[in-house]
Amino acid sequence: MSREQRPIDAARVPVLKPAELGDMKVRGAKIAMVTAYDAPSGRLADEAGVDVVLVGDSAAMTVLGLDSTVPVTVDEMLVLTRAVARSVRHALVVADMPFGSFQPSNRAAVQNAVRFVKEGGAHAVKLEGAGASLKRVEAIVGAGIPVMGHIGLTPQSVTKLGGYRAQGRTAAKGRQLLEEALALEVAGCFSIVLEAIPDAVAAHITAALRIPTIGIGAGARCDGQVLVWHDLLGLTAGHVPQFVKQYAHLSDSILAALKAYVADVREARFPERQHTYAMLPGEQERLEADFAAPGPPKPE
Ligand code: KIV
Repeated sequence: MSREQRPIDAARVPVLKPAELGDMKVRGAKIAMVTAYDAPSGRLADEAGVDVVLVGDSAAMTVLGLDSTVPVTVDEMLVLTRAVARSVRHALVVADMPFGSFQPSNRAAVQNAVRFVKEGGAHAVKLEGAGASLKRVEAIVGAGIPVMGHIGLTPQSVTKLGGYRAQGRTAAKGRQLLEEALALEVAGCFSIVLEAIPDAVAAHITAALRIPTIGIGAGARCDGQVLVWHDLLGLTAGHVPQFVKQYAHLSDSILAALKAYVADVREARFPERQHTYAMLPGEQERLEADFAAPGPPKPE
Protein backbone atom coordinates (compact mmCIF):
# COMPACT_ATOMS: atom_id res chain seq x y z
CA MET A 1 0.00 0.00 0.00
CA SER A 2 1.47 3.40 -0.97
CA ARG A 3 1.82 6.25 1.56
CA GLU A 4 -1.06 8.06 -0.14
CA GLN A 5 -3.37 5.06 0.26
CA ARG A 6 -2.63 4.50 3.93
CA PRO A 7 -5.68 5.14 6.12
CA ILE A 8 -5.62 8.06 8.55
CA ASP A 9 -4.64 7.22 12.08
CA ALA A 10 -6.60 10.01 13.76
CA ALA A 11 -4.93 9.27 17.08
CA ARG A 12 -1.37 9.51 15.77
CA VAL A 13 0.80 11.97 17.65
CA PRO A 14 2.47 14.56 15.41
CA VAL A 15 6.21 14.78 15.59
CA LEU A 16 5.79 18.51 16.02
CA LYS A 17 3.29 19.57 18.68
CA PRO A 18 1.61 22.99 18.82
CA ALA A 19 3.47 23.86 22.04
CA GLU A 20 6.79 23.15 20.32
CA LEU A 21 6.17 26.11 18.03
CA GLY A 22 6.29 28.20 21.21
CA ASP A 23 9.62 26.59 22.09
CA MET A 24 10.87 27.52 18.61
CA LYS A 25 9.90 31.14 19.26
CA VAL A 26 11.86 31.11 22.52
CA ARG A 27 14.90 29.63 20.75
CA GLY A 28 14.59 32.13 17.90
CA ALA A 29 14.15 29.28 15.41
CA LYS A 30 12.00 30.47 12.51
CA ILE A 31 8.88 28.45 11.70
CA ALA A 32 8.26 27.40 8.07
CA MET A 33 4.64 26.87 7.10
CA VAL A 34 3.09 26.25 3.69
CA THR A 35 -0.35 25.36 2.41
CA ALA A 36 -1.07 21.97 0.84
CA TYR A 37 -4.28 20.55 -0.54
CA ASP A 38 -3.63 16.94 -1.51
CA ALA A 39 -1.46 13.93 -0.70
CA PRO A 40 1.47 14.73 -3.03
CA SER A 41 1.75 18.34 -1.85
CA GLY A 42 1.50 17.27 1.80
CA ARG A 43 4.19 14.62 1.28
CA LEU A 44 6.56 16.99 -0.51
CA ALA A 45 6.11 19.76 2.08
CA ASP A 46 6.80 17.24 4.84
CA GLU A 47 9.86 15.83 3.09
CA ALA A 48 11.18 19.38 2.58
CA GLY A 49 11.17 19.91 6.35
CA VAL A 50 8.19 22.25 6.61
CA ASP A 51 7.07 22.60 10.26
CA VAL A 52 3.37 23.32 9.70
CA VAL A 53 1.22 22.26 6.76
CA LEU A 54 -1.93 24.34 6.46
CA VAL A 55 -4.86 22.97 4.51
CA GLY A 56 -5.93 26.51 3.74
CA ASP A 57 -9.36 27.54 2.57
CA SER A 58 -7.37 29.30 -0.17
CA ALA A 59 -8.07 25.90 -1.80
CA ALA A 60 -11.36 27.49 -2.83
CA MET A 61 -9.42 29.68 -5.26
CA THR A 62 -6.23 27.72 -5.94
CA VAL A 63 -7.78 24.28 -6.38
CA LEU A 64 -11.54 24.63 -6.80
CA GLY A 65 -11.50 27.62 -9.16
CA LEU A 66 -13.80 29.80 -7.04
CA ASP A 67 -13.58 33.61 -6.94
CA SER A 68 -13.13 33.83 -3.16
CA THR A 69 -12.73 31.58 -0.14
CA VAL A 70 -16.30 32.25 1.03
CA PRO A 71 -18.20 29.45 -0.77
CA VAL A 72 -15.96 26.47 0.15
CA THR A 73 -17.70 24.02 2.48
CA VAL A 74 -16.63 21.89 5.43
CA ASP A 75 -17.21 18.74 3.39
CA GLU A 76 -14.98 20.00 0.57
CA MET A 77 -12.26 21.04 3.04
CA LEU A 78 -12.50 17.64 4.74
CA VAL A 79 -11.68 15.79 1.51
CA LEU A 80 -8.54 17.90 1.08
CA THR A 81 -7.57 17.69 4.77
CA ARG A 82 -7.82 13.88 4.75
CA ALA A 83 -5.60 13.67 1.67
CA VAL A 84 -2.94 15.91 3.24
CA ALA A 85 -3.08 14.21 6.65
CA ARG A 86 -2.54 10.80 5.02
CA SER A 87 0.79 11.85 3.54
CA VAL A 88 2.31 14.05 6.26
CA ARG A 89 4.54 12.26 8.76
CA HIS A 90 6.35 14.97 10.73
CA ALA A 91 4.71 18.36 10.32
CA LEU A 92 1.76 19.71 12.26
CA VAL A 93 -1.35 19.58 10.04
CA VAL A 94 -3.67 22.56 10.53
CA ALA A 95 -7.09 22.62 8.87
CA ASP A 96 -8.63 25.97 7.98
CA MET A 97 -12.22 26.34 9.17
CA PRO A 98 -14.17 27.74 6.22
CA PHE A 99 -16.60 30.64 6.32
CA GLY A 100 -19.85 29.62 8.01
CA SER A 101 -18.34 26.69 9.89
CA PHE A 102 -17.69 28.54 13.17
CA GLN A 103 -19.62 31.83 13.03
CA PRO A 104 -23.15 30.57 13.92
CA SER A 105 -22.45 29.32 17.48
CA ASN A 106 -19.87 27.80 19.82
CA ARG A 107 -21.63 24.49 19.33
CA ALA A 108 -21.27 24.63 15.53
CA ALA A 109 -17.64 25.72 15.88
CA VAL A 110 -16.77 22.82 18.18
CA GLN A 111 -18.71 20.28 16.08
CA ASN A 112 -16.93 21.32 12.90
CA ALA A 113 -13.51 21.52 14.57
CA VAL A 114 -14.08 17.98 15.87
CA ARG A 115 -14.87 16.86 12.31
CA PHE A 116 -11.56 18.27 11.06
CA VAL A 117 -9.66 16.33 13.73
CA LYS A 118 -11.73 13.15 13.74
CA GLU A 119 -12.65 12.77 10.07
CA GLY A 120 -9.92 14.90 8.51
CA GLY A 121 -6.93 13.79 10.57
CA ALA A 122 -5.86 17.39 11.33
CA HIS A 123 -3.91 18.11 14.51
CA ALA A 124 -5.27 21.64 14.89
CA VAL A 125 -7.63 24.13 13.23
CA LYS A 126 -7.25 27.74 12.15
CA LEU A 127 -9.99 30.32 12.17
CA GLU A 128 -10.11 33.91 11.03
CA GLY A 129 -10.80 37.03 13.06
CA ALA A 130 -10.81 38.23 16.64
CA GLY A 131 -13.85 39.99 18.20
CA ALA A 132 -16.74 37.59 17.62
CA SER A 133 -14.29 34.74 16.94
CA LEU A 134 -12.78 34.90 20.45
CA LYS A 135 -15.60 32.93 22.06
CA ARG A 136 -15.31 30.33 19.29
CA VAL A 137 -11.58 29.99 19.94
CA GLU A 138 -12.23 29.51 23.67
CA ALA A 139 -14.90 26.90 22.96
CA ILE A 140 -12.75 24.90 20.53
CA VAL A 141 -9.68 25.06 22.77
CA GLY A 142 -11.97 24.07 25.66
CA ALA A 143 -12.90 20.97 23.64
CA GLY A 144 -9.21 20.05 23.51
CA ILE A 145 -8.44 21.14 19.95
CA PRO A 146 -5.50 23.50 19.38
CA VAL A 147 -6.42 26.68 17.50
CA MET A 148 -4.33 28.96 15.29
CA GLY A 149 -5.66 32.51 14.95
CA HIS A 150 -5.56 34.70 11.84
CA ILE A 151 -5.82 38.50 11.75
CA GLY A 152 -5.00 41.39 9.41
CA LEU A 153 -6.24 40.63 5.92
CA THR A 154 -8.79 37.91 6.60
CA PRO A 155 -10.01 36.77 3.16
CA GLN A 156 -13.34 35.44 4.48
CA SER A 157 -14.24 39.08 5.31
CA VAL A 158 -12.93 40.52 2.04
CA THR A 159 -16.18 42.37 1.30
CA LYS A 160 -16.17 44.04 4.71
CA LEU A 161 -12.46 44.91 4.35
CA GLY A 162 -13.06 46.49 0.93
CA GLY A 163 -10.87 44.10 -1.08
CA TYR A 164 -7.59 42.22 -0.81
CA ARG A 165 -5.53 45.07 0.62
CA ALA A 166 -3.04 45.57 3.43
CA GLN A 167 -4.51 46.19 6.88
CA GLY A 168 -3.30 48.09 9.95
CA ARG A 169 -1.51 50.86 8.08
CA THR A 170 -2.35 53.63 10.57
CA ALA A 171 -1.15 53.79 14.18
CA ALA A 172 -4.72 53.34 15.42
CA LYS A 173 -5.37 50.32 13.21
CA GLY A 174 -1.98 48.89 14.15
CA ARG A 175 -2.87 49.25 17.85
CA GLN A 176 -6.21 47.55 17.18
CA LEU A 177 -4.41 44.57 15.59
CA LEU A 178 -2.16 44.33 18.63
CA GLU A 179 -5.23 44.25 20.91
CA GLU A 180 -6.78 41.54 18.73
CA ALA A 181 -3.61 39.45 18.83
CA LEU A 182 -3.37 39.75 22.62
CA ALA A 183 -7.03 38.77 22.97
CA LEU A 184 -6.51 35.70 20.76
CA GLU A 185 -3.54 34.68 22.91
CA VAL A 186 -5.67 35.00 26.06
CA ALA A 187 -8.47 33.02 24.34
CA GLY A 188 -6.01 30.12 23.96
CA CYS A 189 -4.54 30.26 20.45
CA PHE A 190 -1.19 28.47 20.12
CA SER A 191 -0.09 30.79 17.31
CA ILE A 192 -1.45 33.52 15.05
CA VAL A 193 -1.20 34.20 11.32
CA LEU A 194 -0.62 37.87 10.52
CA GLU A 195 -1.64 38.56 6.94
CA ALA A 196 -0.81 41.66 4.88
CA ILE A 197 0.09 44.11 7.63
CA PRO A 198 3.07 46.48 7.91
CA ASP A 199 6.33 45.01 9.11
CA ALA A 200 6.45 47.50 12.04
CA VAL A 201 3.04 46.42 13.33
CA ALA A 202 3.90 42.72 12.96
CA ALA A 203 7.18 43.29 14.84
CA HIS A 204 5.34 44.91 17.79
CA ILE A 205 2.78 42.11 17.89
CA THR A 206 5.50 39.45 17.71
CA ALA A 207 7.40 41.09 20.58
CA ALA A 208 4.26 41.45 22.72
CA LEU A 209 3.03 37.85 22.37
CA ARG A 210 4.29 34.71 24.05
CA ILE A 211 2.84 32.59 21.23
CA PRO A 212 4.49 32.62 17.80
CA THR A 213 3.33 34.77 14.90
CA ILE A 214 3.36 33.40 11.37
CA GLY A 215 3.54 36.13 8.76
CA ILE A 216 2.28 36.31 5.19
CA GLY A 217 2.98 39.76 3.85
CA ALA A 218 3.89 40.86 7.37
CA GLY A 219 7.66 41.28 7.08
CA ALA A 220 10.68 39.38 8.33
CA ARG A 221 10.24 39.98 12.06
CA CYS A 222 7.46 37.43 12.57
CA ASP A 223 8.37 34.14 14.25
CA GLY A 224 7.62 32.24 11.05
CA GLN A 225 6.39 32.58 7.50
CA VAL A 226 3.64 31.01 5.44
CA LEU A 227 3.08 31.02 1.70
CA VAL A 228 0.38 29.54 -0.46
CA TRP A 229 1.58 26.45 -2.38
CA HIS A 230 0.55 27.78 -5.79
CA ASP A 231 2.16 31.19 -5.22
CA LEU A 232 5.44 29.74 -3.93
CA LEU A 233 5.77 27.31 -6.83
CA GLY A 234 4.61 29.58 -9.63
CA LEU A 235 1.30 27.82 -10.26
CA THR A 236 -0.94 30.83 -9.67
CA ALA A 237 -2.92 32.06 -12.66
CA GLY A 238 -3.16 35.85 -12.78
CA HIS A 239 -2.22 38.33 -10.07
CA VAL A 240 0.46 37.31 -7.57
CA PRO A 241 0.54 39.41 -4.36
CA GLN A 242 3.55 41.68 -3.75
CA PHE A 243 4.61 39.69 -0.68
CA VAL A 244 5.05 36.43 -2.59
CA LYS A 245 8.46 35.06 -3.49
CA GLN A 246 8.18 32.53 -6.29
CA TYR A 247 10.72 29.75 -5.80
CA ALA A 248 9.82 28.03 -9.08
CA HIS A 249 7.75 28.61 -12.19
CA LEU A 250 6.02 25.28 -12.41
CA SER A 251 3.18 26.52 -14.64
CA ASP A 252 5.75 27.08 -17.40
CA SER A 253 7.29 23.63 -16.92
CA ILE A 254 3.89 21.92 -16.81
CA LEU A 255 2.66 23.76 -19.89
CA ALA A 256 5.82 22.90 -21.83
CA ALA A 257 5.50 19.21 -20.85
CA LEU A 258 1.82 19.07 -21.81
CA LYS A 259 2.47 20.74 -25.17
CA ALA A 260 5.26 18.24 -25.89
CA TYR A 261 2.87 15.38 -25.01
CA VAL A 262 0.12 16.72 -27.29
CA ALA A 263 2.61 17.09 -30.14
CA ASP A 264 3.96 13.55 -29.59
CA VAL A 265 0.45 12.06 -29.64
CA ARG A 266 -0.53 13.99 -32.77
CA GLU A 267 2.68 12.95 -34.53
CA ALA A 268 2.46 9.33 -33.27
CA ARG A 269 5.83 9.67 -31.46
CA PHE A 270 4.26 8.40 -28.24
CA PRO A 271 4.00 5.66 -27.05
CA GLU A 272 7.33 4.10 -27.99
CA ARG A 273 8.41 0.48 -27.61
CA GLN A 274 9.45 0.90 -23.94
CA HIS A 275 5.96 2.20 -23.06
CA THR A 276 4.25 -0.84 -24.59
CA TYR A 277 3.47 -4.33 -23.20
CA ALA A 278 4.74 -7.34 -25.15
CA MET A 279 2.91 -10.66 -25.19
CA LEU A 280 4.33 -13.69 -23.41
CA PRO A 281 6.81 -15.76 -25.50
CA GLY A 282 5.08 -17.60 -28.36
CA GLU A 283 1.71 -16.03 -27.64
CA GLN A 284 1.78 -13.49 -30.40
CA GLU A 285 2.21 -16.23 -33.03
CA ARG A 286 -0.79 -18.07 -31.50
CA LEU A 287 -2.81 -14.88 -31.53
CA GLU A 288 -1.99 -14.17 -35.18
CA ALA A 289 -2.89 -17.75 -36.12
CA ASP A 290 -6.16 -17.53 -34.14
CA PHE A 291 -7.09 -14.27 -35.78
CA ALA A 292 -6.20 -15.62 -39.25
CA ALA A 293 -8.29 -18.80 -38.80
CA PRO A 294 -12.08 -18.54 -39.22
CA GLY A 295 -14.39 -19.54 -36.32
CA PRO A 296 -14.20 -19.22 -32.52
CA PRO A 297 -10.80 -19.09 -30.75
CA LYS A 298 -9.18 -22.44 -30.02
CA PRO A 299 -9.07 -23.50 -26.30
CA GLU A 300 -5.68 -23.11 -24.50
O1 KIV B 1 -6.13 29.82 3.37
C1 KIV B 1 -4.91 30.11 3.40
O2 KIV B 1 -4.12 29.71 2.54
C2 KIV B 1 -4.45 30.94 4.50
C3 KIV B 1 -3.04 31.41 4.46
C4 KIV B 1 -2.93 32.55 3.53
C5 KIV B 1 -2.54 31.75 5.80
O3 KIV B 1 -5.20 31.24 5.36
